[in-house]
Amino acid sequence: MGVCERLIDRKVGLKWLCYARSDDLADRDTVELMKAAGCVEVQIGIESGDQGQLDRMNKRNTVEKNARALVNCREVGITTAVTVILGYPGETERSLLNTLAFLKASPPDFCYPAPFNARVEYVPILQPESRTKYGIELANDGRSAQPYWRHATMSCSEVGAWYRRFNRELMQERISLHAGLFYDGILTFDPADRDALLDFQAEAIEHDRVLSRVFVPIHDWARRRLEADVERQLGPRRITPRPRTLPLVS
Ligand SMILES: C[S@@+](CC[C@H](N)C(=O)[O-])C[C@H]1O[C@@H](n2cnc3c(N)ncnc32)[C@H](O)[C@@H]1O
Repeated sequence: MGVCERLIDRKVGLKWLCYARSDDLADRDTVELMKAAGCVEVQIGIESGDQGQLDRMNKRNTVEKNARALVNCREVGITTAVTVILGYPGETERSLLNTLAFLKASPPDFCYPAPFNARVEYVPILQPESRTKYGIELANDGRSAQPYWRHATMSCSEVGAWYRRFNRELMQERISLHAGLFYDGILTFDPADRDALLDFQAEAIEHDRVLSRVFVPIHDWARRRLEADVERQLGPRRITPRPRTLPLVS
């Protein structure tokens, strides 16, 4: 007998959360059973709104199931906290825009976008075969907390502007609560407060506009420094990245 059925049968009355896969949560009966068993929150690795990226990550899952899982949880009353990777090998402007569009169409309660990091070197994507396939190059002269990375379609110096754009749009457009900002409150989150918290977050970022203007040139300066440092450590790009076609406000 499954864990959920046991919790229900024994009337345990426990409130719990778990990591979950969206292909399980895409099944409405499963979500309802979890809710009845006391589940209050699921944390899902949505990762991307681009099917090509999910395939490259070997998620064995679909964008459509990610969307269905989020709808099921919202309707049944289970809080969703999702993580998204920006800049994973194969990432392009188009795939990132697909991810933004996905989050806007299927908003989770909490979202945590994270730039791709290459800190753990033994993961499959950093093995020699994948490195060749995606043109992945790494360098670490010991001065940064994690290796600089570059692959055929993006680099660690380019992903920062996307990271800021994701955070800003998710907050400004009242899509999701930022999981990092509300980290302490995720476990006690009451969906009845969602709108008020989204308003609070949007107002906070609006007030921050003047202050954040100060950071635009600083971000720009840091990005140029990083770009130069990445190029110094990894050498000039062998593949020229496609020119940017859409404005990217930092
Ligand atoms: C929230 S953690 C879950 C913890 C995991 N069960 C564990 O014990 O490590 C997993 C999430 O981290 C993110 N992640 C994993 N590897 C990553 C990487 N190399 N760069 C950026 N984010 C990554 C993905 O969004 C993934 O869904």
